[in-house]
Amino acid sequence: MAKKEAKSASKVEKGKGLDVGTAFIVCAERHGGRIAFRTQRDAFFDIEYSDFTKQMLIKSQVNYIEKDDRLYVVGNEALEFANIFHAELRRPLKRGVISPSEKEALPMVELIIRGVAGKPAYEGETIYFSIPGPPLDANYDSVYHEKILEGMLTRLGYTAKPINEGLAVVFSDLAKEGFTGLGLSFGSGMVNICLAYMSVPILTFCVTKAGDWIDQQVAAAVGETASRICSIKESSLDLTKRDGLSRTEAALSIYHDNLIDYVLAHIVREFERNENAPRIDKPIVIVLSGGSTMPKGFLQRFNDVLARSTFPLAVKEVRLASQPLYGVAKGALIGATADEAKK
Ligand SMILES: Nc1ncnc2c1ncn2[C@@H]1O[C@H](COP(=O)(O)OP(=O)(O)O)[C@@H](O)[C@H]1O
Ligand SMILES: [Mg+2]
Repeated sequence: MAKKEAKSASKVEKGKGLDVGTAFIVCAERHGGRIAFRTQRDAFFDIEYSDFTKQMLIKSQVNYIEKDDRLYVVGNEALEFANIFHAELRRPLKRGVISPSEKEALPMVELIIRGVAGKPAYEGETIYFSIPGPPLDANYDSVYHEKILEGMLTRLGYTAKPINEGLAVVFSDLAKEGFTGLGLSFGSGMVNICLAYMSVPILTFCVTKAGDWIDQQVAAAVGETASRICSIKESSLDLTKRDGLSRTEAALSIYHDNLIDYVLAHIVREFERNENAPRIDKPIVIVLSGGSTMPKGFLQRFNDVLARSTFPLAVKEVRLASQPLYGVAKGALIGATADEAKK
């Protein structure tokens, strides 16, 4: 593959976009005319130190850190280790920000970010990184998270700028609409929401229930582990099916409706609370992005719940993002490219 890329002499253009998610970290950059993405699972798994194990990890080119007599496998391979050892993965982020309960979080995130973002094309290259909006249903902010990430990226040699995750979805999928509309990013730790008018965010916020929450609720309802539910959800869930469902499928169906309902209820409430915010009088487009929109039938479910809600704006269309797993990284890249063009 590397050879093929070299042959087409695709030049890496300046500017990068980084989606720092609870489950995945994604970097977007331009090669010639197209956008390339690199993804790593935002997770790690620790094992006891032995010289033998360390040699194995080096030989298999597994990303790891050595610290206090332990080896930490980081990124995609961490999941394989967790499955083999029947243990839960550890995550450096929780509900969208650096986890307060995980003291090893910082070196893990830094290693993953170094891996996906790589070195800047030149000292001071612009990178936009995603940050969540203020949570409506939890009592924390993202200031610490944002400053830690900014520091890591600056040390790598970038000019780092934060971009709201919902606004990144607007950038990636609402170009045709003049960057006006509602961008929703359904991730693992949270759902981010941004209403924008001509690329300017009017309202940004998030709720802290999303894919992880679905896994936990379904697991509790049917007596399974959350990881097992997550695998079923990602591999075979079909939300268009209403009959003949297994117990797990029925619970997944219920909690997807419940999540959408929860998100829309919070949007309605927030719009009511901000009734003095600028009004968009034309019907808007709503874009749904993020990994949790991936199950077949998700868009239909969203439309069904929307039709039952008291959503305060006229809606022209609801559509899925063109690349739900990459929308945030792509939107961040669009922001970075615009900055680079101004230099
Ligand atoms: N094919 C799929 N079907 C259902 N859910 C999926 C699928 N792929 C990913 N997900 C879910 O999407 C969430 C991750 O989405 P992502 O947008 O990458 O989140 P984050 O930005 O929080 O890392 C997880 O809850 C994951 O289980
Ligand atoms: Mg994400």
